[in-house]
Amino acid sequence: MTGNEEFMRRSLAAVWHPCTQMKSHESVPLVPIRRGEGIWLEDFDGARYLDAISSWWVNLFGHCNPRINAALRDQLGRIEHLMLAGFTHEPVVQLSERLSALTDNALGHCFYASDGASATEIALKMSFHFWRNSGKTGKDSFLALENGYHGETIGALSVTDVPLFRDAYAALLRPAGTVPTPDWRGAEPGESPQTFALRQADALERCLERDHARIAAFIVEPLVQCATGMAMHHPAYLRRVRELCDRYEVHLIADEIAVGCGRTGTFFAHEQAGIRPDFLCLSKGISGGYLPLSVVLTTDQVYAAFYSEDPARGFLHSHSYTGNALACRAALATLDIFEQDGVLAANRSTAARLTLACDALHAHPRVTHLRQCGMIWAFDVTRAPADFARRFSQQAMARGVLLRPIGNTVYFMPPYVIDEEAIALLARTALLALDAALED
Ligand SMILES: Cc1ncc(COP(=O)(O)O)c(C=O)c1O
Repeated sequence: MTGNEEFMRRSLAAVWHPCTQMKSHESVPLVPIRRGEGIWLEDFDGARYLDAISSWWVNLFGHCNPRINAALRDQLGRIEHLMLAGFTHEPVVQLSERLSALTDNALGHCFYASDGASATEIALKMSFHFWRNSGKTGKDSFLALENGYHGETIGALSVTDVPLFRDAYAALLRPAGTVPTPDWRGAEPGESPQTFALRQADALERCLERDHARIAAFIVEPLVQCATGMAMHHPAYLRRVRELCDRYEVHLIADEIAVGCGRTGTFFAHEQAGIRPDFLCLSKGISGGYLPLSVVLTTDQVYAAFYSEDPARGFLHSHSYTGNALACRAALATLDIFEQDGVLAANRSTAARLTLACDALHAHPRVTHLRQCGMIWAFDVTRAPADFARRFSQQAMARGVLLRPIGNTVYFMPPYVIDEEAIALLARTALLALDAALED
């Protein structure tokens, strides 16, 4: 038995893997990974895979990054974790100050958790509780975008519009209202993404006009709805959303769990619309892909509405690992790399090179809607077979590249440190895997 086979067998016997019909592993092998370095993962038999999706969109500066490793080693010698109720520590204070500063202090307070879905839950609860503390008890529902994804705990699933994830739990959910997506693929022929986005915002306006007294917040993934196939929209949509939310006294929650931390070209995606949300959810890349960390930033106005002699007016929400010192230290090391290496500027030239390398894909007769936003690329495959995603993924893995299409959408979301050689390998492999996956 090879190293891979042994770990595959042991894992299947003991581990329940996420987002997986476990029976599928009877035909699709698990991939046991022994180590990672930079953009590469290596299995137990020594095969290497280019991590072209940043391990579920979390890794920014490569696996086993020496600078993040060093920061964590240093932190291990100080304090690994302590409860954040009644106590505080250096990394959480520094991280909160630095994140606030990145919003020009428009969002002055940070509340921490571990995963993206927990950040969604916190933003929803805080929004509702803010209105309740402000005497508006009727604002007890939420609005979300068609095809939006905000996580899979019960509250987050309530604002997620993905039937595959929702339907089994429908009886447990308190579904949010949804408004049409500004995904520019829905534009009429000749209609610009901007005009289309504004037209879609009219539906939001009608909804808010009618229901604003019941709606606490509108939650949106700015610029790219990632989990439902990298659907991109024009920033004009977000500007209009901000105006409408202000007009109708509805909070705007920016879920930047996937699109934050430089992924769309600016540090925060909402910056491209020249707006600030009332709540900003971050996770995934915030710790460089090292440790589970999420954070909800909000305004001093929201914070002040909870500040009281009355404990019940406070935000009595917690997780044991809230503000974990190691995770915060990884995040600080990540922010250091952004500053010291001029990452956003460097990403612009990396993105230009990868876009150029996509030329052959662009010309492929079965490729449509090739699109890019910052360090995200995607295209849709026409007349794709039902099992296209599995076929493509297996073909890419066999050629040493980790890619996992969403339905018939192939996307690249590589770590920011992807180099010239890997860019060429990625584009070449995607083309070969596409042809192989489309063969009868
Ligand atoms: C936009 C968005 N929100 C929330 C989540 C949920 O994050 P987590 O998987 O860490 O709970 C994700 C995960 O992919 C996401 O893409």
